[in-house]
Amino acid sequence: MEELERLLSANKTEGDEGENKLRPKTLDSYIGQEKVKQNLAVFMASAKKRGETLDHVLLYGPPGLGKTTLSHIIASEMGAGLRMTTGPAVERPADLASILTNLQRGEVLFIDEIHRLNPTVEEILYSAMEDGSLDIVIGKGPTARTMRIPLEPFTLVGATTKAGMLSAPLRDRFGMVFRLELYSKEELKDIVNRSAGILDIEITPEAALEIAGRSRGTPRIANRLLKRIRDFAEYENSGIVDLEIAKKGLKRLEVDALGLDMTDINILRTIIEKFNGGPVGLETLAASTGEDAGTIEDVYEPYLLQLGFIARTPRGRTCTQAAYKHLGIKLFNPSLFDEEPETEE
Ligand code: ADE
Repeated sequence: MEELERLLSANKTEGDEGENKLRPKTLDSYIGQEKVKQNLAVFMASAKKRGETLDHVLLYGPPGLGKTTLSHIIASEMGAGLRMTTGPAVERPADLASILTNLQRGEVLFIDEIHRLNPTVEEILYSAMEDGSLDIVIGKGPTARTMRIPLEPFTLVGATTKAGMLSAPLRDRFGMVFRLELYSKEELKDIVNRSAGILDIEITPEAALEIAGRSRGTPRIANRLLKRIRDFAEYENSGIVDLEIAKKGLKRLEVDALGLDMTDINILRTIIEKFNGGPVGLETLAASTGEDAGTIEDVYEPYLLQLGFIARTPRGRTCTQAAYKHLGIKLFNPSLFDEEPETEE
């Protein structure tokens, strides 16, 4: 039993301290991801009406956008218990068998980083998701037998930052696949105001918008910045977060006007200065910046793409004119870009 608890507490430490307090508990109080919310609301209501468990759900998209939060909401709206683990924590097929056979009727099993499941473990999931049973092979070679163990109906919620790394058989077994998008500045402003209310922080509308605009489309970052700027506000004045203290705090935190940090700037400068604006392949870019290729792709690139600072071409990543402008770098060869041709005198 202790072993089972270890497997299921695999992501209790996820996120920073206090993140749970800020998680919306219902779909109605969840800001943003409108398409996902609308569809989920329909599918959950219909499943409830039929007295069934919800079909399996795959959530994918960059980190910090609310995949864990949505899994809590799904469980709570379905009136079901939630069990949480992560792909790398489930090392052996027996680990997963133990988790699955201990699920209660209707429970939600959340597997974060599901793309990191060991292939032999993943195989166990196929029959569990499809037929609601565990097919376990006992023995080896000609005497091997398959034992089928029926499971209680359950909903698997899988989360990943890399949908592309999921095997086709696993992906195909999810009845719903939702892609989470980066949040707009307005949505993030609403999230900052909501979080400030929960944390009892007094904040002006201008300061909330400033933090929102520098949060890389990511609620987790918005909430972290809010907490750190509250620290500056408490240290320097009455604790009220106004525009002046927000700007000062953001400067001290080395977050630039658009929320870019040292790593974003390093990536952009490397493409521009070492590769003449690109194109440069992801692996080469990783080696030149000293960052992990997966981290560039999952964590940094989505926001740089949203800003229109980089473009992905078949030959690699290129920097756009907007990136040069933001960094204050003069274009070496403007004809690289599809500009209006200069008129001859
Ligand atoms: N806190 C973090 N993410 C949130 C969201 N999507 N809606 C409301 N509050 C949040």
